[in-house]
Amino acid sequence: MTDPKITIRTNDQPIVGSNFLPIIRKNVTLKSRYFFAPINAGLADSYGNPTPELISFHAKRSGEEIGVNYLGNVSIHKDYVTNDTTLFVSENMDNWQGMTQLISNLGSLPGVQVACYKSNYKLIRKWKNKDDNAYIQFAQEEINALSIKEINTLVHQFVDSAVRLIDLGFKVIQIHAGHGYFLSTFTSPLFNKRSDEYGKDTMLVLKRIFEGIRTKAGSQDYILDLRISIYERSLDEDTQAKIESIENLYSHGALDMLSQTNGLYNLSKRLMYPHKSFGHCFMKQPIAQLANRFPNFIWNLCGNIWDLDDIEQSDIPRNLTFSIGRSLLADDDFISKNLDQKKDQVNRCNFCNKCHYYSMGLPNIACGVNPNLF
Ligand SMILES: Cc1cc2nc3c(=O)[nH]c(=O)nc-3n(C[C@H](O)[C@H](O)[C@H](O)COP(=O)(O)O)c2cc1C
Ligand code: SF4
Repeated sequence: MTDPKITIRTNDQPIVGSNFLPIIRKNVTLKSRYFFAPINAGLADSYGNPTPELISFHAKRSGEEIGVNYLGNVSIHKDYVTNDTTLFVSENMDNWQGMTQLISNLGSLPGVQVACYKSNYKLIRKWKNKDDNAYIQFAQEEINALSIKEINTLVHQFVDSAVRLIDLGFKVIQIHAGHGYFLSTFTSPLFNKRSDEYGKDTMLVLKRIFEGIRTKAGSQDYILDLRISIYERSLDEDTQAKIESIENLYSHGALDMLSQTNGLYNLSKRLMYPHKSFGHCFMKQPIAQLANRFPNFIWNLCGNIWDLDDIEQSDIPRNLTFSIGRSLLADDDFISKNLDQKKDQVNRCNFCNKCHYYSMGLPNIACGVNPNLF
């Protein structure tokens, strides 16, 4: 497939064990369709910088077979972090360049998720909210009370953070608009009931962020990615409802990649961290349809991926990539073992939930089956 925006390198050798042909977008080459999903590991120091443990955590999950290694949940400001051990953008980010260099040297593209949790609603620790309607009303009121000046300040903070991170060597900049974070609720018609321009076009805030990044950083040498929750309450209805927003961003033209996630943290975590019973790669059909419908986007799918043979043997769109979370927590060689036909040697995630350290009241990530996470 060749189109004006995505080049598929048909002459390149796929990585061993995969039939994926590298994709080039804006001078950035995706060599593998498998990515390490954004994971907030709770391993930042009190200045919001990566600790040696976090650097090791990411180094273990970088390599030629991992197209992108994302740092999860990097807040645009220390006031908008989700927990005390979260990364944030600040004046002093001395050791970040070493980290992006290390990930690149190991063979992956360094990716980063730019996030903001601006709410007085304390993130729930329980698996499910006791009162969905009370939360929805609370979030609606917060969004509607924001002044234009406050919104524009947040837009600037997103832009400045993204540009800073590009300067530090990140090649995939993922704006986090999923899971009920600020950009997730603000762009959602369920929460945003504003009557001004930001309510009439709920995607406007994103378009302003994308334009700001392009103005300050130019458009080459980084992939601009957006993570959104597709499945929030009902898969079919939610997917249909998102199509209008996706069309809006598609015609705007600044975005390169759309990354799917699911769920809203403060309603229920069951869609964010799907249980085994949802099945392997259960979002494949709806996201493959979207990837065909919007071919100028690179698409990224996430959730319950534990069998790469199934993916390699399926007829999937060439612009479809996959982020893998817990399978790579349980075994940092998960991808290479699958591609090298050593599936029987994979240390498998057993869905014990120990990695959800925030819900468990732990300061940072742990894994029930992998004592050597970092
Ligand atoms: C411990 C943990 C931390 C996570 N942190 C983030 C995060 O910072 N940002 C994000 O968008 N998703 C985060 N996620 C969600 C994952 O990116 C992914 O969407 C989810 O785990 C489902 O994929 P999986 O079934 O491959 O694990 C986290 C998941 C886990 C298990
Ligand atoms: S802690 Fe449990 S659920 Fe999380 S990755 Fe490890 S085995 Fe899987």
